[in-house]
Amino acid sequence: MKGVVLAGGTGSRLFPLTKITNKHLLPIYDKPMIYYPIQTLVDAGIKDILIVTGGRNAGDFLRLLANGKEFGLTHLDFTYQEGEGGIAEALSLAEHFADGERICVVLGDNIIEGSIREAVEAFRTQPSGARILLKEVEDAERFGVAEIVGDKIIGIEEKPKKPKSNLAVTGFYLYDEHVFEKVKGLKRSERGELEITDVNNSYIADGSMAFSYLDGWWTDAGTFESLLRANNLVAETAEKRNSD
Ligand code: DAU
Repeated sequence: MKGVVLAGGTGSRLFPLTKITNKHLLPIYDKPMIYYPIQTLVDAGIKDILIVTGGRNAGDFLRLLANGKEFGLTHLDFTYQEGEGGIAEALSLAEHFADGERICVVLGDNIIEGSIREAVEAFRTQPSGARILLKEVEDAERFGVAEIVGDKIIGIEEKPKKPKSNLAVTGFYLYDEHVFEKVKGLKRSERGELEITDVNNSYIADGSMAFSYLDGWWTDAGTFESLLRANNLVAETAEKRNSD
């Protein structure tokens, strides 16, 4: 399975922090943000990784990450998203890299305490389709929200005003080789983006979407509040590990 880190977009919600640099290069405690999703993939046993960047600072990613030596890798792939047409648009740029293999997609601003390894292993034995990772949250209206009936996922709503559950769809997505056909069939949403939630709902409509629950804390880092929370959570976890 190959890995894709999506680190495009303009980070407009973090302006002026993102006026000069890319959101995914901002610090989270002692490392740049982009280090965390890459480490998440490597910890799950995924070593063949593509970084999708964008904006004015794409070259900085290459200088920072080079060939991934810090992660024990010997090579990294890079590609460039023009504009910010949405998560699914950024994903479409990975078609050539995926080359018919299954992929594990990670949003560049998603940071976790634990590991996604179990979900990745479960997906390896899943005959086809997709798998997402869910997490209980208190502010579900900020995310894609899953509706579960029995042991089935029946739909996802993107940032609903009245969420049908407290289960957020986290930024970790496992897809089979049909994902790129699905992206090609998408229409732009009201905010002018190709939405990852529409890709996921298409797998749900086919009856081929599975889900796992994410253990440990999870946060994004795309707003001032969540950026601060991410820094605090990573710092607290590091302190705890050092004192154990
Ligand atoms: O964090 C999880 C949430 O991420 C999900 O619950 C939502 O369903 C999903 O839509 C997404 O919501 P956000 O509105 O928080 O996504 P945001 O626009 O902040 O983008 C998240 C990352 O995706 C960003 O750090 C980089 C990548 N991205 C985003 C856009 C819009 C791209 O690579 N290109 C893009 O054009």
